[in-house]
Amino acid sequence: MINLILLGPPGAGKGTQATRISQKYGIPHISTGEIFRRHIKEGTEFGKEAQEYMNKGELVPDSLVLKIAEARLMEDDCLEGFLLDGFPRTVNQASNLDIFLDERNHSITHVIDIDVDKELLMTRLIGRRVCRNCNANYHVITMPPEKEGICDVCGGELYQRSDDTAATVENRLEVYNSLTKPLLEYYEKSGKLVHIDGNLEPDDVFKNIIAAIGDSE
Ligand code: AP5
Ligand code: MG
Repeated sequence: MINLILLGPPGAGKGTQATRISQKYGIPHISTGEIFRRHIKEGTEFGKEAQEYMNKGELVPDSLVLKIAEARLMEDDCLEGFLLDGFPRTVNQASNLDIFLDERNHSITHVIDIDVDKELLMTRLIGRRVCRNCNANYHVITMPPEKEGICDVCGGELYQRSDDTAATVENRLEVYNSLTKPLLEYYEKSGKLVHIDGNLEPDDVFKNIIAAIGDSE
C-alpha cells in the first residue's frame, strides 16, 4: 500500500508530479491547497476564512487544515492508499496526522521531498497558468499551451493563481523555510524520507520518484 506525502517548497512541482503518481498507482491525489481553492470558488464560510491567509501567502491555521484533511482521508477511496500534496505543512500537522492514521491502523509509507534551487521557484510560479476547468498546469515559457490561454487537455480557460504574484511568492517561500522545512527533520527520523532532484525535466523527476517508491505497490 502506498500512503505517500509529497514535500517541497511552493513551485517545486508537487502538483505536476502528484497528477502522474496518482494516475500510475490509482490512488487519490489530495491537495489541501486545491480543496481550499474549491471552497473559495464555491463561496463557503471555510473558503472565506482560508482566502484571507492564502492571499497573503500565510498558512491556514492548523485546526482548520486538520479538520478538512482528516475528513477527506476518511473517505472510502483512501482505504487503498493516498497521495498528500501540500499537507502536512507544520510539525504540529504532521504529528496530528500520525496520531490520526495510527488510530486507524495506518501509517505513512513514503515521504518524497522535491528539492529545487531557490532561484527557479520564483520564475516557475510567476509564469504558471492553471486550467479553471481541469486544473492542468502550464508555464508561459517552459510549458506553454498550444493556444495561448486555452487548456490543451479540455479547452478550458487558463488563469493565474491570485497567490502567484512576486510579493506573495516571496512570503510563501519564507513561510516554507520557517514552518515547513522543519518537517524534513521530523520525517528523517522515521527513515521514510527520500530526496528527489526537482530541477530536472518533469519526466525525469517522475522516473526518479517511481524508482524511489520501488515495488511497494
Ligand atoms: P498549495 O496550493 O499547496 O501551493 P504551494 O505549496 O505553494 O505549491 P504550489 O502549488 O504553488 O507549487 P507545486 O509544488 O504544486 O508546483 P507545480 O507542480 O504547480 O497551497 C496554497 C496555499 O494554501 C498555501 O500558501 C497556504 O496558504 C494554503 N495551504 C495549503 N495547504 C496548507 C496546509 N497544509 N496548511 C496550511 N495552509 C495550507 O509547478 C509550478 C510551476 O512549475 C508550473 O508552472 C509547472 O508547470 C512548472 N514545473 C513543474 N515541474 C517542473 C519541472 N520539473 N521543470 C520545469 N517546470 C516545472
Ligand atoms: Mg500545487
